[in-house]
Amino acid sequence: MKHPITYILALVAMFAFFSGTAAADFEGRKKCSSCHKSQAKSWKETAHAKAMESLKPGERAEAKEKAGLDPDKDYTKDKDCVGCHVDGWEQKGGYTVERPKKMLAAVGCESCHGPGKNYRRDHRKGGQLFEKSGKTMPRKRLADRGQDFHFEEACAACHLNYEGSGWEGVKEPYVPFTPEIDEKYRFDFDKMVKDDKAMHAHYKMDGAFVGEPKFKYHDEFQANAQEGEEGDEDDDDEDDDD
Ligand code: HEC
Ligand code: HEC
Ligand code: HEC
Ligand code: HEC
Repeated sequence: MKHPITYILALVAMFAFFSGTAAADFEGRKKCSSCHKSQAKSWKETAHAKAMESLKPGERAEAKEKAGLDPDKDYTKDKDCVGCHVDGWEQKGGYTVERPKKMLAAVGCESCHGPGKNYRRDHRKGGQLFEKSGKTMPRKRLADRGQDFHFEEACAACHLNYEGSGWEGVKEPYVPFTPEIDEKYRFDFDKMVKDDKAMHAHYKMDGAFVGEPKFKYHDEFQANAQEGEEGDEDDDDEDDDD
């Protein structure tokens, strides 16, 4: 007979698998952008989309000097920096310095909305169901598969990761740009989440997904949303790297 620990480990693994606690994979923004063209275009113009540029030598020289960094140094492969300037650092499917994927470089869709592998197919299903029959799908189903509707923790992991910020998850490496360097680096979620320099514009949704968890500014954003472009919706499931 096998040692009992073998069975216990197998049970633990099975539990993790079936309860959905196993972390979902990051896949890169291409998977989202084919359907959400308007958000993707708008995102490209934001500060988040340019986050990798800032790590290059010569970029943002003044800001770097002020924070005690070397403006002539290349920080694009520096593990003390890259983590907050890309998607899914040190997580399943996420960006690595050893195998950098273009579609995970800079702060993209999944950094805020959550790793997409498990919920993006439900977006397709929910969209098709709504189009065909007008039936809606609960947001809870998306949340159960890793979509984030609160955002605050996601922003904090990058913006409030420094000693004394008051955020509980603080751990090294810290963000070098803090209110101590300049007041403008103070992170105020309610203000920042509406800052169109860093956040993509909002486009009208038909309402295929309903119920809680709904983002607290969802109705406000939708009330002021623009008409968006039709997505392709034929998101292929090929595992293209970038
Ligand atoms: C993966 C890390 C990460 C996440 C998650 C993240 N940000 Fe950022 N954010 C950055 C980085 C890096 C920059 C700087 C980009 C640059 O200029 O190179 C930035 C810039 C910004 C700016 C512009 C600041 C300025 O100087 O004008 C705002 C506003 C902002 N983020 C808000 C948010 C909000 C709100 C959230 C959550 C909904 C969020 N961010 C999530 C990393 C992140
Ligand atoms: C814990 C997350 C985190 C780490 C680690 C991190 N950054 Fe950032 N970085 C951010 C955030 C968040 C911002 C946006 C700050 C803001 O504007 O409020 C930012 C902004 C910047 C900016 C733009 C500042 C400006 O005012 O234009 C530069 C340049 C930068 N980071 C370089 C670096 C370098 C170099 C390192 C490594 C030494 C590094 N970052 C490490 C999160 C991080
Ligand atoms: C810095 C954080 C952040 C990033 C990066 C980000 N989003 Fe968003 N997104 C938000 C927030 C906040 C909302 C508002 C949520 C709501 O109203 O329910 C939102 C809303 C949306 C919506 C709902 C409709 C709308 O326009 O408001 C879609 C679709 C969307 N994002 C797709 C994307 C895609 C695609 C990308 C990548 C190209 C992306 N997002 C990148 C934060 C982000
Ligand atoms: C096959 C197409 C498709 C793909 C791929 C896709 N979505 Fe969606 N998404 C949709 C449709 C359809 C809706 C519902 C639109 C409506 O209500 O009009 C939606 C809704 C959303 C919403 C709004 C949810 C709410 O609160 O109502 C967000 C945010 C979003 N998608 C982000 C993403 C992100 C991030 C990715 C990539 C990880 C992604 N989507 C991938 C088709 C897609």
